Amino acid sequence: MISNNTILITGGAGFIGSTLANHLIKKENKVVIIDDLSMGNLENLDNSKKIDINIDSITSETLLRKVFSDYQFDYIFHLGAIASVADSVENPTKTHEVNFESTLLILELIRKSQKNLKRLVFSSSAAVYGDELTLPKSEDHSVIRPLTPYAVDKYSSERYVLNYYSLYGIPTSAVRFFNVYGPKQNPASPYSGVISILLNTYKKFKVDPTVKFNVFGDGEQTRDFIFVEDVISALQLVATSPKSLGEVYNVGTGNSTSLNDIINILDNLLSLKIPVEYLKARKGDIMHSFSTIEKLKQLGFSPEYDVYKGMKKYLEKEF
Ligand code: UD1
Repeated sequence: MISNNTILITGGAGFIGSTLANHLIKKENKVVIIDDLSMGNLENLDNSKKIDINIDSITSETLLRKVFSDYQFDYIFHLGAIASVADSVENPTKTHEVNFESTLLILELIRKSQKNLKRLVFSSSAAVYGDELTLPKSEDHSVIRPLTPYAVDKYSSERYVLNYYSLYGIPTSAVRFFNVYGPKQNPASPYSGVISILLNTYKKFKVDPTVKFNVFGDGEQTRDFIFVEDVISALQLVATSPKSLGEVYNVGTGNSTSLNDIINILDNLLSLKIPVEYLKARKGDIMHSFSTIEKLKQLGFSPEYDVYKGMKKYLEKEF
């Protein structure tokens, strides 16, 4: 959809960033990434020789100034962030620097130096809804309750990004990701996305039958799980649509699936029966979450993958 353009992806070696970079590089785009490899990995990039890779934090003003003076970008996807909500609670100051201050700096550098920019897309999160329980979660909700440093920084960055359109005419949009899953998602932390942890547990179980998967709660909690390839389509639609200027979009499927159902699907696809241990629910866990994607659909979005199809593709690539 986006071809022959110059594109900056912050967090470009991470899960979503590298999937986007790998896609865009195939379409004759010049791709520049910034990533400090704190979560990302250069091995995620299929053709790293063709990408201008800058290994440093997005908080490095020197690097940002250099990149913005070396290039005139058509599109910027700002995906770099401390992605762990738990880490943000441990270290709010550091999170604020990475997740908020870098956004503001990028906005200012765009205002001063990027005259050709077609769109900045900022990646926010369903975390901004917090424990506001109305379902489905809609961009129109007047009440939101960002509960953690992660969520507060995402929300304030999102507002700044969108207000740079109304205040200065900088072409911006924001997206709120729901539960994204797929190849290259890092399962390293207990707070990583549940599907990456689950798949990792199946891999261990194949060689060690004593391994169990821990479910926090009764497994009937539901989430709006979206396959990463659908996210890449959504990002490009939001970036290229004139309608989405100054607007924020939920990026989900509009459907919810329980954790128990995900386990059943994987058991089926892998012809295994993973032992499950049900533990006490995690503090602060919400029971149900799903998006309405009516707004995104108005841009022409329609998710291609339901959880079954998405899991199947995930397993083909990574099991
Ligand atoms: C996501 C964030 C979380 C944030 C929340 C609020 C990620 C990976 N998680 O959580 O940090 O606080 O949004 O917006 O971005 N689970 C298990 N076993 C595991 C891991 C998880 O049972 O090993 C459960 C969790 O308790 C939860 C469900 O699986 O009920 C989904 O977990 P997760 O993937 O972390 O997503 P969210 O709960 O939506």
